[in-house]
Amino acid sequence: MAVAVIALVVTLTLQTTIFGASGGSGESKEMCQSEECIKTAARMIENLNKSVDPCEDFYDFACGGWIARNPIPQSESVWDQLISLHEELSQKLRLLLEEPDQPGEPRGVKMARAYYRTCLDTDSMEKLGMEPIYEVMAKLKLPRNIPEDDLNPPELDVAWLAGNAHRLIKLHLMVNFFISEDPRNGTLNRMMLEQVSPVLPDRHLLDQERFKSEIDEYKKYAKSMLELAGVGKRSGEFAQEIVDFSTQLAGILNTPEERRSPNHMFHDLSFQDLQMTTDMNAAQWNWTTYINGVFNDTDVKIDAAKEKVIVVDMTYLQKLPQLLVLTPSSVIGEYNNLIAYV
Ligand SMILES: *[C@@H]1O[C@H](CO)[C@@H](O)[C@H](O)[C@H]1NC(C)=O
Ligand SMILES: *[C@@H]1O[C@H](CO)[C@@H](O)[C@H](O)[C@H]1NC(C)=O
Ligand SMILES: *[C@@H]1O[C@H](CO)[C@@H](O)[C@H](O)[C@H]1NC(C)=O
Ligand SMILES: *[C@@H]1O[C@H](CO)[C@@H](O)[C@H](O)[C@H]1NC(C)=O
Repeated sequence: MAVAVIALVVTLTLQTTIFGASGGSGESKEMCQSEECIKTAARMIENLNKSVDPCEDFYDFACGGWIARNPIPQSESVWDQLISLHEELSQKLRLLLEEPDQPGEPRGVKMARAYYRTCLDTDSMEKLGMEPIYEVMAKLKLPRNIPEDDLNPPELDVAWLAGNAHRLIKLHLMVNFFISEDPRNGTLNRMMLEQVSPVLPDRHLLDQERFKSEIDEYKKYAKSMLELAGVGKRSGEFAQEIVDFSTQLAGILNTPEERRSPNHMFHDLSFQDLQMTTDMNAAQWNWTTYINGVFNDTDVKIDAAKEKVIVVDMTYLQKLPQLLVLTPSSVIGEYNNLIAYV
């Protein structure tokens, strides 16, 4: 993609340069006089390798200079103009965030700096310890410590938990909810629902032989987190159950190929209709409960009969309730606990 963008920009720049120079009309004199345009044109020219004949190898001609000057950094597996711009932007942002507040600066800027300082304030974090996390767990009705004995799991409403966890800590538990512009009408912002990858990339979960080392490392990690959360001897067993459940979740996801296909439909329907559609296999997920959780403590009131949502991965949402019915609630509980905990 990046290469295509570079090639396109180069082509356009070349056209501008060639026709701009040879045209001689009044309009062409105005061309590329701004500072940005001159800088961009200079960058484009640097990216060329003019000793390559474009009729021989256009790619090398158009990008050879850039490739020569931009070896892939050791810390990265890919490198392109966009990543490098992103890196540059991050560095500039860091400098801006580390500057002291100036009088008269917008409130948003000051808030962003305060947020940044909070993230770096490890002394206060150490002092507060786990307490803020326990407060969130309590609001989500999750246990402070993950119980080692899962014989009597508490009644659990996953939809309630997913909605409220989204609201409180922006956790995408089983589904992802977001607000974005309507793909068919950019002037409208719409509620959207889509599937979400479980704890590990689904590619890894669905091919565990090939990604054995990744899966093993994840299990080790999950086991040590569960131990920290108070699960004793059974932490290894829990970690395995969590990976198994995640694998089942990965199995009901739409594949990237399916999602890219032009036949991958958007469904635009009310929460009430969504409820009927997902209740077909098992009535295990109450969308009203979910969406009320997402908008908990706000003045947004959702009328399930009228308010519409765009669903990107309908088959996933249809299979999810059934999977939840077939999975022991103790396993779902462990999965939720671990996800919320980390
Ligand atoms: C430009 O291409 C020539 C011929 O392939 C090559 O020898 C040279 O190293 C390249 N220069 C740069 C800066 O990439
Ligand atoms: C897009 O939405 C706006 C606001 O509801 C509406 O006025 C407009 O007609 C819509 N455009 C199309 C192409 O549907
Ligand atoms: C879903 O939850 C809402 C409120 O949370 C409740 O009014 C409604 O009866 C529930 N629907 C079903 C089918 O249980
Ligand atoms: C909103 O949050 C409170 C506190 O966490 C909780 O008790 C309540 O059930 C939530 N309401 C909804 C509609 O999810």
